[in-house]
Amino acid sequence: MTESTTNGEHLALWGGRFKSGPSPELARLSKSTQFDWRLADDDIAGSRAHARALGRAGLLTADELQRMEDALDELQRRVDSGAFTPIEDDEDEATALERGLLQIAGDELGGKLRAGRSRNDQIAALIRMWLRRHSRIIAKMLLGLASTLIEQAEKAGRTVMPGRTHMQHAQPVLLAHQLMAHVWPLLRDVERLSDWDKRIDASPYGSGALAGNTLGLEPVAVARELGFSKVTANSIDGTASRDLVAEFSFIAAMTGVDLSRLSEEIIIWNTQEFAFVRLDDAYSTGSSIMPQKKNPDIAELARGKSGRLIGDLTGLLTTLKGLPTAYARDLQEDKEAVFDQVDTLEVLLPAFTGMVGTMVFDKERLEAEAPTGFALATDIAEWLVKNGVPFRHAHELSGACVKIAEDRGQELWDLTDENFISVFKDFLPAEKAPQVREVLSTEGSVSARNGKGGTSPLRVREQIAAAKSTIEQLRTFANSISDGPAYKTPESLLK
Ligand code: ARG
Repeated sequence: MTESTTNGEHLALWGGRFKSGPSPELARLSKSTQFDWRLADDDIAGSRAHARALGRAGLLTADELQRMEDALDELQRRVDSGAFTPIEDDEDEATALERGLLQIAGDELGGKLRAGRSRNDQIAALIRMWLRRHSRIIAKMLLGLASTLIEQAEKAGRTVMPGRTHMQHAQPVLLAHQLMAHVWPLLRDVERLSDWDKRIDASPYGSGALAGNTLGLEPVAVARELGFSKVTANSIDGTASRDLVAEFSFIAAMTGVDLSRLSEEIIIWNTQEFAFVRLDDAYSTGSSIMPQKKNPDIAELARGKSGRLIGDLTGLLTTLKGLPTAYARDLQEDKEAVFDQVDTLEVLLPAFTGMVGTMVFDKERLEAEAPTGFALATDIAEWLVKNGVPFRHAHELSGACVKIAEDRGQELWDLTDENFISVFKDFLPAEKAPQVREVLSTEGSVSARNGKGGTSPLRVREQIAAAKSTIEQLRTFANSISDGPAYKTPESLLK
């Protein structure tokens, strides 16, 4: 095996017991810098904390530690400026960065940093650090989207629309209520991230390859410097487990599904037949052949990308299934799945939020459609219940009214007094029957649904206030940086 060199041409982190270097085929298969280089900043932060731990353990003198930190600062600068990047021969980001460090600090000093750590505990720590930072970015974007939906709900005021079940007209609801129904799942996605963060907030650094380290290194201080409040309780679990990566991946997939369901709604509302909503020109696309077309591509891409987000989760879970409980190289496959999910969401959410914020509802059309399709039939039944009719009969009587209207091609409010009198005759006096008209308005129908969580304007105002306060609470998580005393999110990663 080629020796480690400081001339920057080649470095292997292993090889002492090998007669030859890796075959080109193996090298090509093994290489991961094309995707794991984005962990470089976290790796250097880890190295800094690790160097201090070596110093505290007496394995680096004060002077060596100072020179090591200077070298790591220089390495960070070279990485930031692009002056230092992986070369073809670097197996992974850790290999590349050690090569870089040796170039700056020299073999003698640079060669000391690797003591007491393994790429197994390093990589397990780095993916946690990286995901924790991006979870905040995604949380912020989701809260932004939720706030945008709330603004639309407030703009909608008391506008009513057809509420549907099975896609059929069911009961009128406030447009605001329907929009808010998409806010809550998104807020739960952020809650999930915040809750997940409590579990992933443990540093595997110091676990070594699997059994811990013999050098008297104190992982607690390293954890603090890397923004973790504690250390993983078991070094095997620390290096082998990826359930927390998978849990993040589930949240990302679920977020995709939530966006997809809202997308589907917007796509349907935007059809000529529905014509409930108009998308802004800046957030829709045209057709290369049909000049009249204006397409809801953002919603369609969101719907499509949800499939990809689910695929990432499925792939990751499949990789983990059946692995022995300690590091195995299979675990290298954890990263691309979540990198792809994060990239997908971080590019999707701003566009999606723009589309939602600029779409314009046709309130008149929504109002006109709201009561049609016998959407007030439940109101008739419940009015009868309030007048002492058992619900089983009330349901039938209301159904009889629907039948008359349907046979005549009319709506419920078109029935005559005589119709109501004759349908209700076994239960209500004739003078009472026509009073059912008092509930045959969408406004009456909507206002009557005034139990908590219902669609009455009062209750919707109440839920908007509740959602806003949930957003405020979740902002504490979204704005938190998983920062210990020393670890700062590199600016380049936050742009
Ligand atoms: N590149 C590896 C990964 O991403 C790092 C750990 C490699 N460890 C090893 N013993 N080969 O998982």
